[in-house]
Amino acid sequence: MPEHGRRPYISGNWKMAKTLSQARTHIEALLPLLPAGGGIEVGVCVPFTALEAVVSAAAGSDLRVCAQNMHQQDEGAYTGEVSAPMLVELGVTGVVLGHSERRLHFCETDRGLQEKVPAALAAGLQPILCVGETDEEREQGDMERRLRSQVQEALEKVPLERLAEVVIAYEPVWAIGTGKSATPEQAQEAISFVRALVGDRSRPAAEAVRVLYGGSVKAENAAELLGQPDVDGALVGGASLDPDGFAKIVAAAAP
Ligand code: PGA
Repeated sequence: MPEHGRRPYISGNWKMAKTLSQARTHIEALLPLLPAGGGIEVGVCVPFTALEAVVSAAAGSDLRVCAQNMHQQDEGAYTGEVSAPMLVELGVTGVVLGHSERRLHFCETDRGLQEKVPAALAAGLQPILCVGETDEEREQGDMERRLRSQVQEALEKVPLERLAEVVIAYEPVWAIGTGKSATPEQAQEAISFVRALVGDRSRPAAEAVRVLYGGSVKAENAAELLGQPDVDGALVGGASLDPDGFAKIVAAAAP
């Protein structure tokens, strides 16, 4: 465990990839490649259709199985949506919220996330809240303003005593799926700013909250990014689809 006491966390985000059988095969290949001992928390965020199969394939291991979205209400007339209690009953233990692809293509808003983050916590799911600026916002010097509004709004209704349980993923939109990751210095700078934003509400929570970096993380650049003092882990998209590549990223997180 690093000195600050934050356990490194590496999570794959499969997005809309892998059918049920592909998901099962992937987990069977991945599990033997993961380090024993629990020093690093490892998760996979998988499509709804594969959740049950992945929970069952991962049974008995420490692998955390997460969804990629959820509705803030427990039930209701919301055709096509899935709620936290539905996920919990499947054995899911976490959920990605506010991924930039959901913000861009599915009108996800900070206001909506304000309900989703506490709803996930209340149901017993670990939220992975994604934040990050676009290329344009960075060029115009708006990165901090954007991160401030995303973090403050989404966390506004999280009770103080549960703030440290939220995992935040800083994912600059320009780095996602582009092959062009942030430099370690850019990741460190943005993530320490995100941590300071949490500190505006609670200093102890800011010390304990884990902030991950996401955006074109791969085996080749993981160690450098994860070596930054405030980078507590990674949310990995494309490179998580291959068990060997993903396992190498996990290995790079070893303190
Ligand atoms: P990427 O995606 O690793 O493929 O860039 C990261 C993410 O969207 O979480």
